[in-house]
Amino acid sequence: MEKELSLEFLRTVENAAIASARTMGQGDREGSDQAAVEAMRKEMDRVGMDGTIVIGEGERDEAPMLFIGEKVGAAVRDKSREYPKVDIAVDPLEGTNLCATGEPGAIVVLAASEHGGLLHAPDLYMEKIIVGPPAKGAIDLDAPVKDNLRAIARRYDRDVEDLVIVVLDRPRHEKLVSDIRKAGARIRLISDGDLSAGISAAVRGTSVHAVMGTGGAPEGVLTAAALRCLNGQILARLVVSKPEHLERTATMGIKDPKRIYETVDLAPGKKIIFACTGVTGGGLLHGVNFFRDGTRTHSLIMTLEEAEVRFIDSVHLDRHPGVEVRFN
Ligand code: FBP
Repeated sequence: MEKELSLEFLRTVENAAIASARTMGQGDREGSDQAAVEAMRKEMDRVGMDGTIVIGEGERDEAPMLFIGEKVGAAVRDKSREYPKVDIAVDPLEGTNLCATGEPGAIVVLAASEHGGLLHAPDLYMEKIIVGPPAKGAIDLDAPVKDNLRAIARRYDRDVEDLVIVVLDRPRHEKLVSDIRKAGARIRLISDGDLSAGISAAVRGTSVHAVMGTGGAPEGVLTAAALRCLNGQILARLVVSKPEHLERTATMGIKDPKRIYETVDLAPGKKIIFACTGVTGGGLLHGVNFFRDGTRTHSLIMTLEEAEVRFIDSVHLDRHPGVEVRFN
């Protein structure tokens, strides 16, 4: 499955990124998201799979496309043969505000696995700590912030003062930010996009050593899928603070809503494909670049069983022949 489908998923995220990048800076977050969703949905039908969306744009009544439970892939039309059954989690535009305002860090994301390989997370908030391979196993979701930072610093063989921790800039993180400051670590406050930050924490050279705080649960599952491929770690717990949250978790079959999820609980698949493409340039990926003869995209595509991590710089040519491709 990984070998056959990864190039097709790469094309899916590339095309969604190109479509949403056209809307960059228009101040229309819904329009940007819709462009990504439509392009992604269109590409998916070409993919040789019997796919089911397990994390998508919401329930069927709130999303016309890529809703949870929607069937996607060539199997929808072609009943003449068997296609591999694939569960799919998407965030067609992670950082809708970032794209609408032209700020760095918007990406298009898709993860796929064999059936049952990605947790069907409710659209709630989730507390998270995310680290890369060096700090794997050193963190504890319930430990004081300063203890986690000391443990991460020890694993990186550096001082707490040398760490960079990414936190979503939200009022709910006032205490967290104050605790990180007191412990002495450096902080990068981001306006959106804890998924892209979570991937960065597991890629050396991005100057991100951990992500802490509360963000979306669907983003948590997608982060976990990426971290399985990158040997990183996420610890996470759903934020269940209202009776309707309890109802929601119960209907989704979650028996213990206070459970702490490990990476493998969120993305238990044996086979995982993770693909993302930059929309607006950020620390991990360049944004989409339009030029006279075509479009250039920058993507990350990873497979778990095949153990491959590829950064892919693609040039999509519109004018052929007579094109001019630059090296950089
Ligand atoms: P969208 O792409 O849906 O706008 O989400 C962006 C994001 O910043 C995520 O990265 C993060 O997990 C979540 O929103 C945080 O939610 P909130 O903006 O409600 O704090």
